[in-house]
Amino acid sequence: MYKILTHNKISVKGLDKFSRDKYEVASEIGHPDAIMLRSHKLTPEAIADSVTAIGRAGAGVNNIPVDDCTERGVVVFNAPGANANAVKELVIAGLLLSGRDILGGIKYVKEEGPGLTEDELHKLVENGKKQYGGAELAGKTLGVVGLGAIGSLVAETGLMLGMKVLGLDPALSVEAAWRLSRDVERVENMQTLLSKSDYVSLHLPVLEATRNLINKELTESFKPGSVLLNFSREKLVDTQALVAALDSGKLRSYISDFPMPEFLGRKDVIQMPHLGASTAEAEENCAIMIADQLIDFLENGNIKNS
Ligand code: MLT
Repeated sequence: MYKILTHNKISVKGLDKFSRDKYEVASEIGHPDAIMLRSHKLTPEAIADSVTAIGRAGAGVNNIPVDDCTERGVVVFNAPGANANAVKELVIAGLLLSGRDILGGIKYVKEEGPGLTEDELHKLVENGKKQYGGAELAGKTLGVVGLGAIGSLVAETGLMLGMKVLGLDPALSVEAAWRLSRDVERVENMQTLLSKSDYVSLHLPVLEATRNLINKELTESFKPGSVLLNFSREKLVDTQALVAALDSGKLRSYISDFPMPEFLGRKDVIQMPHLGASTAEAEENCAIMIADQLIDFLENGNIKNS
């Protein structure tokens, strides 16, 4: 029997892949062969010596001590692309929220509307139109940094919304470049992308080269009044540099899928609790991809996406 230790709630569609005659899957189990998890932060000490593989039901692996695993010969799997559509949809929601004051309008009706007559509601509508107007995305420029599974979907959707789309990805594979629409204009560096974009969306992992990528120096390159969207990782941005860019008006707004204390209470920042991959479909896709990889590894020794 193979033993799989799970952390976090893993979609049953993925768990069902482990046949009961060969696998024991539980959130508490002695001498596990493998660990399957989503966002649980795993410490080196929490990885039993019996573990040979860890599967992350998501794209990023920054909650896993990967260097330590490599030293110990523990294979780390991830699920690239399995939640890309879910994240893309939330990024597009972020774009829409930054162009129109949808949240302000909803709050206004919810707070001011109850108990009003039809006539009074009509007046509420008239006032609301004056207060909560916005601007359209069509015709604006979207700069996408990182054209992997999620970034390329965001870029293509930007085109469908009538936006001009710029893309930057020095590590773009030939296959990905081939699949990507020719209408996504490639730029060579961050300064060019930032200075030409009304909206900038980050789609990068956190690596040595990308940590604090959006730093004080780079914020100087933002087109005045532009919007930054970060649905990748909070460590891609230098928080203090962003606060200064927002205070000076260089940035109009910051839309992020990670709450940071420095931004709480700011009207020009929207923060979500890392909801990008939180759809039933994405959770299923990730769990199935990881279960398939763990089974193939444990039973056949094959390694994919490690
Ligand atoms: C990812 O890396 O794909 C996301 O962090 C997934 C998640 O929210 O669990």
